[in-house]
Amino acid sequence: MWLAAAAPSLARRLLFLGPPPPPLLLLLSRSSRRRRRLHSLGLAAMPEKRPFERLPADVSPINYSLCLKPDLLDFTFEGKLEAAAQVRQATNQIVMNCADIDIITASYAPEGDEEIHATGFNYQNEDEKVTLSFPSTLQTGTGTLKIDFVGELNDKMKGFYRSKYTTPSGEVRYAAVTQFEATDARRAFPCWDEPAIKATFDISLVVPKDRVALSNMNVIDRKPYPDDENLVEVKFARTPVMSTYLVAFVVGEYDFVETRSKDGVCVRVYTPVGKAEQGKFALEVAAKTLPFYKDYFNVPYPLPKIDLIAIADFAAGAMENWGLVTYRETALLIDPKNSCSSSRQWVALVVGHELAHQWFGNLVTMEWWTHLWLNEGFASWIEYLCVDHCFPEYDIWTQFVSADYTRAQELDALDNSHPIEVSVGHPSEVDEIFDAISYSKGASVIRMLHDYIGDKDFKKGMNMYLTKFQQKNAATEDLWESLENASGKPIAAVMNTWTKQMGFPLIYVEAEQVEDDRLLRLSQKKFCASGSYVGEDCPQWMVPITISTSEDPNQAKLKILMDKPEMNVVLKNVKPDQWVKLNLGTVGFYRTQYSSAMLESLLPGIRDLSLPPVDRLGLQNDLFSLLHKQADMQEEKNRIERVLGATPLPDLIQKVLTFALSVSYSENCV
Ligand code: BES
Ligand code: ZN
Repeated sequence: MWLAAAAPSLARRLLFLGPPPPPLLLLLSRSSRRRRRLHSLGLAAMPEKRPFERLPADVSPINYSLCLKPDLLDFTFEGKLEAAAQVRQATNQIVMNCADIDIITASYAPEGDEEIHATGFNYQNEDEKVTLSFPSTLQTGTGTLKIDFVGELNDKMKGFYRSKYTTPSGEVRYAAVTQFEATDARRAFPCWDEPAIKATFDISLVVPKDRVALSNMNVIDRKPYPDDENLVEVKFARTPVMSTYLVAFVVGEYDFVETRSKDGVCVRVYTPVGKAEQGKFALEVAAKTLPFYKDYFNVPYPLPKIDLIAIADFAAGAMENWGLVTYRETALLIDPKNSCSSSRQWVALVVGHELAHQWFGNLVTMEWWTHLWLNEGFASWIEYLCVDHCFPEYDIWTQFVSADYTRAQELDALDNSHPIEVSVGHPSEVDEIFDAISYSKGASVIRMLHDYIGDKDFKKGMNMYLTKFQQKNAATEDLWESLENASGKPIAAVMNTWTKQMGFPLIYVEAEQVEDDRLLRLSQKKFCASGSYVGEDCPQWMVPITISTSEDPNQAKLKILMDKPEMNVVLKNVKPDQWVKLNLGTVGFYRTQYSSAMLESLLPGIRDLSLPPVDRLGLQNDLFSLLHKQADMQEEKNRIERVLGATPLPDLIQKVLTFALSVSYSENCV
């Protein structure tokens, strides 16, 4: 039973010193695999906010009919767009996003009326927009906007770009691939490049006939290109309504392995030529993952196929384009003869992450980039749920704690951290928020929320959310509302304390035996790596807290919602010799500081390993972090010192280290 109470009024600190923009992605080591999200929070100056306006709503797209003809030798492409559009308010101009593209001609034909040729293309390069001017007014109603344009297959790994590969015979060649998130679809074709402006897409590619051409949907036609016998025109089925950042196309040379998932989806993994074997593991993961999500969300995967493709030059780790998920090679390929289990676990997590987005992100899309944390935080949590379901032998949640949770706490304890939710205006701000806070803290607080709600109601709420907003857009509050309706718990009030203010609490706890019961006195204070929180108005959190005892170390004896700075809790029927521990499974995003007596009583549970491995890991992290705090933490140091046996500083740190390592490595599980 969760004990809830009304939300306290909270002091919110919204000062945000943004992290530096992520450096170019290079895979360095295992621990830096999630580099994109793990760059440290630097003391960068607040970037100057550029004035920013969203696209006007007077004209919007209904369907894009888009034909692209890349030249893989000259690194250029030609494009033809015929967009069915709706003029909502009479106007004589159309404003769209457009970057590094030259428009040759543009016209608008109102339905059943004469074509009106645009007389001016005014590029606002800084804003990545173009204004098409027409000599007469476009009246309200539907019509067709036609634009012919040319662009460069760039070498910037964004938009429509070239990716270099070497054939098995050693020849250097280029593929043409896309990476549109967050705001680079506008580099491939003029479009309304905002996540809330959804439309359907009919995509065709004109490509050399010996190349593979892929897009979001299945191929519905392939015919010779009239002007050149070496080319073919490949036409893909119409997509569901979707955001521009999820559109994708690939033209290159690839092998593939294929299967059909239990729920009837055709799954292919595309690999470099000659490496199809290396796609088999990801294929197995994808085929297991799709039915898992279908069951979990109780919403079917809406496309007939999904392709997963390894791209030789790829800036991110992977990208969830609807029906055509792109990966860097190390995030998808497994050499069955020469791979270690951690590589397989990584591939399983990445596949689990991107396939989760097919529902959470693609079917229901964030209304604006401000809600990106939810997209990424959610996928970064559910990837573990999925891998745990498909590969229970991996014990993957322990890795979540040792990687994401621990890292998020380390960063979020710094004075220059930032709230998970930051409002985003100009597209140039989007990249800055893809960091460990949005990914790893985001995932950690959703894990805590899932535990607070319980799996049954959480699933119910997810289904309500995905059904209500499918093919539409939603904001963070919409998810809270669905989960609130499903659970009857104060989700928005709880979650706002975790997403709108930076940092997390340290929970102090001391205990007293009162006859057969144990009385716990809890209090919370912001945890700061630099020392105790100083200042008035210490931020407060609504903290879901679980309490276990030695009677059953794997089961919460009591669950409470700590919604005040201080709280007393009575644990019924706890014998004097039993230990009591907070934060079962290290699920709550807080640190615990026990009185020395409580900490001491936990030692037998650590020594005899009856305390579960993830709980020991959490305890060890908390002890370390308390030790690392500086001067004014003498009291904590003394407490730990007493527990470990009077050891003089600085030997103490060494001793705790030895102690902690003996705890975590004394069995394989941690
Ligand atoms: N949507 C992101 C990829 C992305 C992030 C593209 C930022 C453009 C800008 C994708 O779902 C993602 O999160 N990829 C991760 C890897 C994943 C396994 C966590 C990445 O690229 O680091
Ligand atoms: Zn993601």
